[in-house]
Amino acid sequence: MAAHRVAVIGGDGIGPEVTSAALEVVSALGVDLDTREFDLGAARYLRDGFVLDAATLEELRSFDAILLGAIGPAIGDGRIPGGTLERGLLLKMRFGLDLYINYRPFFGVDGSLAKGCDFAIVRENTEGPYAGEGGTLRYGTANEIATQGSVNTRFGVERCVRYAFERANTREIKKVTLVHKTNVLTFAGDLWSRVVNEVSKEYPDVEVDYNHVDAACIYLVEQPERYSIIVTDNLFGDILSDLAGSVTGGIGYAASANLNPARTGASLFEPVHGAAHDIAGQGKANPLAAVSSAALMLEHLGEFEAAQKLAAAVRDFKTEASALGTRAVVDAIKERF
Ligand code: IPM
Ligand code: MN
Repeated sequence: MAAHRVAVIGGDGIGPEVTSAALEVVSALGVDLDTREFDLGAARYLRDGFVLDAATLEELRSFDAILLGAIGPAIGDGRIPGGTLERGLLLKMRFGLDLYINYRPFFGVDGSLAKGCDFAIVRENTEGPYAGEGGTLRYGTANEIATQGSVNTRFGVERCVRYAFERANTREIKKVTLVHKTNVLTFAGDLWSRVVNEVSKEYPDVEVDYNHVDAACIYLVEQPERYSIIVTDNLFGDILSDLAGSVTGGIGYAASANLNPARTGASLFEPVHGAAHDIAGQGKANPLAAVSSAALMLEHLGEFEAAQKLAAAVRDFKTEASALGTRAVVDAIKERF
């Protein structure tokens, strides 16, 4: 196979360390990547005010994949207004490249609450409250109004739900659980429920379940084994994936794939964790979330054998990783090939 063209956004804090660790294990698998680095994130913004322009977004679109480490300033560094990088960089890529699925697989490591559990969250990634609907009136006055609506299109919900069923259909436990708040968010909830019911008819082997999002928070802690594929909207998916990361062994292990299954833009692979400036540059970062994200990237690139080897090596490993340091984890992963 020709080399896959991968844009690498190391970003901030531990981001560059964990992406280079991930690239090292991919190259040890014999997969040929033609990488190009993009200097984006908090450090870049603080240096010259650049976040992401249309030309750079178009350049990114043309790659086969994007591997991202972490974006963000150190906690307590107040120099970057909230939303500048989230909306201006990360969400701009998600929306601009139409990365409409945020796929987040979880596997409960030994010692975690969800030990042995294997499930994934399929999060709608371009709509919901993230879409940017709303605004303010009479800003800064006693009569200020702020609205922030949730956008749910039939098209957006359906393509997300369909992806969830496709995923579930290839898993050992063929089950899709819709998580929402249909008892209160009656308009959006009704759309999601109807779409799940309709799409489910095309997948007779897949069992369908529904949980309210508050109840799902209890189940994730007390009965995580009930899940195989969770499908949910952008904001619920964001919140549930931190909880899911926590009960399966820590957010340090959680990988994600921001996917454009229609392939009209490069899909983006990133750990769920942040930049962790407090441990940056010390060789302490656990690179397994980035390595798992790279495994998802390999799957997307059609490198199925390498993807499976890498995912298996990570699973085999998970119990001991955090205390070891980046170098030792990379070496140990390579030994498992
Ligand atoms: C995530 C993050 C992002 C999100 C932030 C950084 C905008 O929390 O990928 O889960 O809310 O989606
Ligand atoms: Mn999040």
